[in-house]
Amino acid sequence: MPVPKRRLVGLGLQPPTLTPGRGRAMPAPGLVGSGTAPSLAIVLGALLLGGCVREPDPAAIWARECASCHAEDGRGEARKLPLSPGLDLHESPMVIERARGPIYRVIRQGYSGMPGFDHRLEHREIEALVTYVIDLVHDGSEEPP
Ligand code: HEC
Repeated sequence: MPVPKRRLVGLGLQPPTLTPGRGRAMPAPGLVGSGTAPSLAIVLGALLLGGCVREPDPAAIWARECASCHAEDGRGEARKLPLSPGLDLHESPMVIERARGPIYRVIRQGYSGMPGFDHRLEHREIEALVTYVIDLVHDGSEEPP
């Protein structure tokens, strides 16, 4: 990056070496800063991009957003089940019938005692959750007792 000289002149500053001991050497940290800023931007950009491109992890989303009510195995959190039997997704007609559309809508918009997740989850995350929930109920993927 062959910038410094012209910018120093433009700013009316002299190179630090010509002004020893007068505090005019201050540009040095600034130069260091302007050198680090772009690389920081690149790192941040890469992180953001990585976040966008990464595949959704429905198991992690389930654990984070859903298991508090539906339990890890989808059978419903034991303490909440008596009040809301609908928490047991193994008894849910739409999950049993693999009705992706209705399941998607429930997750996005919420339903009865369940909050909607359209503001918290992206489309493809909800899509991945629909598959996850169906697999949870159908594939014998339940934890052995
Ligand atoms: C605050 C508790 C709560 C959270 C968190 C929650 N749910 Fe629910 N969910 C419910 C309740 C209660 C019902 C049952 C509504 C009823 O049947 O009256 C339900 C119903 C459902 C149904 C439909 C079952 C049916 O046939 O009616 C699906 C599918 C579902 N939830 C999936 C999810 C997923 C996926 C998540 C996480 C993104 C999630 N839920 C998070 C409380 C919750």
